[in-house]
Amino acid sequence: MSDTETLFIQHFNEEARPLSYYLKNMAGYTGLKKALGMSQEDIINEVKKANVRGRGGAGFPAGVKWGFIPKQSAKPKYMVCNADESEPGTFKDRDLMRYTPHLLLEGIAIGSYAIGANAAYIYIRGEYVREAKLLEAAINEAYQAGYLGKNILGSGFSLDITVHRGAGAYICGEETALLNSLEGKRGEPRVKPPFPAIAGAFGGPTIVNNVETLAGVPFIINNGGDWYAKLGKLEKSGGTRLFGISGHVKRPGIYELPSGSITIRELIYDYGHGILGDKKLKAVIPGGSSAPVLTADEIDVIADVDPIMKIGSMFGSAGMIVVSEDYCVVKLLARISKFYAHESCGQCTPCREGCRWMEEVIERIEHGHGHEQDLNLLLSIADNINAKTLCALGDAAAGPVMSFVKKFRADFEAHIRSGKCPNA
Ligand SMILES: Cc1cc2nc3c(=O)[nH]c(=O)nc-3n(C[C@H](O)[C@H](O)[C@H](O)COP(=O)(O)O)c2cc1C
Repeated sequence: MSDTETLFIQHFNEEARPLSYYLKNMAGYTGLKKALGMSQEDIINEVKKANVRGRGGAGFPAGVKWGFIPKQSAKPKYMVCNADESEPGTFKDRDLMRYTPHLLLEGIAIGSYAIGANAAYIYIRGEYVREAKLLEAAINEAYQAGYLGKNILGSGFSLDITVHRGAGAYICGEETALLNSLEGKRGEPRVKPPFPAIAGAFGGPTIVNNVETLAGVPFIINNGGDWYAKLGKLEKSGGTRLFGISGHVKRPGIYELPSGSITIRELIYDYGHGILGDKKLKAVIPGGSSAPVLTADEIDVIADVDPIMKIGSMFGSAGMIVVSEDYCVVKLLARISKFYAHESCGQCTPCREGCRWMEEVIERIEHGHGHEQDLNLLLSIADNINAKTLCALGDAAAGPVMSFVKKFRADFEAHIRSGKCPNA
């Protein structure tokens, strides 16, 4: 796919695109106009047909999620855009907001109309100061032009969008912790069910979708769900994906390609231009730091939700971290574990205690004070966290530990034996 055929990335090469650019070059707000003439059910059906798998991590089909919103509700409904983007290795939503803010606003407006919400929130990570300002400016432009506010384009539909800045906690990307934070409470995940579609923000039915998921919606409405679905190369995965490539590659960045059209090897070597210094590949974390690690022998897999799940990892947010042969995997796991221990909200005991404990054990191995039993101890702690917490942060912390220790056991053992990194 060349840059000019892409949905998003062809517009990523300058500063934020103002409304004038959006209207002239991106068929701006024509999707909203069309949607306002459609029934809510028809819009949801188009999104279902499009096979959009949520781009925030879990890969849940967006149309199906929208369909869960009850038609009748005593409480107001809400649309919430998850722009928390705090998973290490993930940086695609930032560019969508930075360069094409109106695309996101239009997607949110269409989604809000489809589910019957008159209020929408963009929950953006606190560190994205510049993007929050750009979104505010775009929202002002959209109000002035009649694409937001009361009686949008004379349709009778009204929508207010509010940007809500987070305060720098990874857990607030988890949708129910996000909703608590939005309500002014501690950012701690809620017990589910009820899921947000039934009882979300302020107790009302709520859809939480990722930035990239929502930014694709105007294309679906303008061109039809079937068209969008066919952009993807796998039956259950429509549209294009923004792949993040970072770590030890020569050309890190964001690349947009049809969903399911490319292997991890091709992404690293054809798009990332191979490993720095022409070194060998040691490992790849395929979908943000919480995804179980893959070895260099496992990269001939299609980079998409189901194929990567089949080999025991996770495609997550499509943010791939590439690791060169001369980088210490013990040091890498120590860094990842430090992150999750720091970000655990502390609500669930296995995560609160286990993440800190894993961090300590890995650090002592890294610094040459590890014991022979430490590897089995790590596997046991991880197993006691995995799937035993209210939210998936526990799994996000346990998955890397289990996969690194199992797949790179020899590296960990060499550290323990020699009391230091053998490569140092
Ligand atoms: C600890 C944790 C952090 C998360 N962080 C994000 C995030 O930063 N952005 C995001 O879109 N989804 C994040 N998610 C996933 C959300 O809970 C939710 O599934 C997603 O926003 C739904 O949007 P989608 O269906 O469009 O993918 C996170 C989940 C967990 C467990």
